[in-house]
Amino acid sequence: MNVWLIAAISADGKIAQVEGQSSLDWTSKEDTRFFIDKTKEAGVVIMGRKTFDTIGKPLKGRRIIVMSHSPAPLLFKEGLGVVTSGTVEFTNLPPRELLDDLTAQGVTTVALAGGSSIYSQFLQEGLVTDLYLTIEPVLFGNGVPLASGFERTDMRLVESIPLNDQAILLHYKT
Ligand SMILES: NC(=O)c1ccc[n+]([C@@H]2O[C@H](COP(=O)([O-])OP(=O)(O)OC[C@H]3O[C@@H](n4cnc5c(N)ncnc54)[C@H](OP(=O)(O)O)[C@@H]3O)[C@@H](O)[C@H]2O)c1
Repeated sequence: MNVWLIAAISADGKIAQVEGQSSLDWTSKEDTRFFIDKTKEAGVVIMGRKTFDTIGKPLKGRRIIVMSHSPAPLLFKEGLGVVTSGTVEFTNLPPRELLDDLTAQGVTTVALAGGSSIYSQFLQEGLVTDLYLTIEPVLFGNGVPLASGFERTDMRLVESIPLNDQAILLHYKT
């Protein structure tokens, strides 16, 4: 299974300045374009419930799987009733079981769209095959780290692509 971790980070390695912040507050339109194209290429997008809350709607042309310990009806009660089954699914399977389940369904590639807790768990389990990190020209000082709690992971830089004259996309393989 190809597992693509896709994230925009500040130059000090944060994915948000404050919890609950939408990435659109500080990332470039070129990064948004990359995120749309790459997640469409993957077809299946896995994200945490808090990240889904910052998006608040299904993403066109992609199967969205939201990890949550709460049953979906609770989320509907919190005002996310726009979601419809078929475009957004909720799961409480742990990362490895979720990937096994998707593999059994014939899925070969998934995009991990965060946040920090989701990136951390998949990295801790050694499940991530590729990282696509867009570095935006900002220092947050504080904030939500990309991920934590995993072993040192030596990677190979495959590509570095300027997205515009300020932001750069780095593609690593683990
Ligand atoms: N810069 C970027 O590229 C980027 C990308 C994504 C997110 N972000 C930012 O990251 C922040 C959110 O990150 P976060 O770490 O706080 O939250 P998160 O990872 O988005 O979501 C955490 C939630 O996911 C669910 N969850 C996590 N592990 C689970 C498991 N093993 N099984 C079932 N459910 C599980 C739980 O939901 P329940 O509480 O419902 O049980 C948990 O509260 C936001 O500010 C967002 O903007 C940035």
